[in-house]
Amino acid sequence: MGKPIGVIDSGVGGLTVVKEMLTMLPNESIIYLGDDLRCPYGSRTSEEVQTFTLEMAAKLAEMDIKMLVIACNTATAVALELIREKFNFPVVGVIIPGARAAVTNSKTSQIAVLGTTRTVESGAYSAEIMRQQPNAEVHALACPDFVPIVESGQYRSEKARTTIDKTLQKLSHKDFDVAILGCTHYPLLEGHIRHSLPRHVQIISSAVETVRDVEKELNKYQLKNETDMREDALFYTTGSRESFKAIVVDWLGIESPDVRHITLP
Ligand code: DGL
Repeated sequence: MGKPIGVIDSGVGGLTVVKEMLTMLPNESIIYLGDDLRCPYGSRTSEEVQTFTLEMAAKLAEMDIKMLVIACNTATAVALELIREKFNFPVVGVIIPGARAAVTNSKTSQIAVLGTTRTVESGAYSAEIMRQQPNAEVHALACPDFVPIVESGQYRSEKARTTIDKTLQKLSHKDFDVAILGCTHYPLLEGHIRHSLPRHVQIISSAVETVRDVEKELNKYQLKNETDMREDALFYTTGSRESFKAIVVDWLGIESPDVRHITLP
């Protein structure tokens, strides 16, 4: 049995990346760590997010992972290079793949980015989109109320719908044909987001593109598990096991997931 791939996020958002990994990389074992206790990261300082991301990466390094996926835009925006410097395994973030998916799909190069306050203020998406498509115009919007709705399991509620509708009103005078879900929690809100954006706008999640990058790195470093045996995914949360488990069951369709509590650092 090969070594597992580690996946980290501030909470349950990275499960949207795991969902794609389970189908696109059927032979790979996954260890997930969500820092739900200290979520949301999006309203924290860059230094705090860097410290917490380092702590998560170190914990999974102790579990002998072969690669790390930072399935959190906020942590990718402020800590990707730091994590790459500190650890020997390959590290994949979500912003380069997300920007690539948006640039590839936009016909007008007018791109909206929905993200956390920290991600938007970091300018990481705008910089990466402009690097890939210098003519692009980026309309970035911080949506600080979205992550708490997902973490509390209310992503299908009426409250979610009205909050999202109100927040996305701020983009109503902008013209764009693609909107990036620049936070891994947001695919759980996609139905509501779809409802609140003009019909012609294509909604992009970075998950599929990120998993393509994970596969490229596995090939590049010859880390692919060539046998068709994999361990069941193992999930750690620093928060409540029960609410984490409910979202794993609902979102990933795993009947009895192995969800354990962990303390950081
Ligand atoms: N899933 C994280 C992201 O992609 C959420 C950040 C947060 O905790 O605010 O940005």
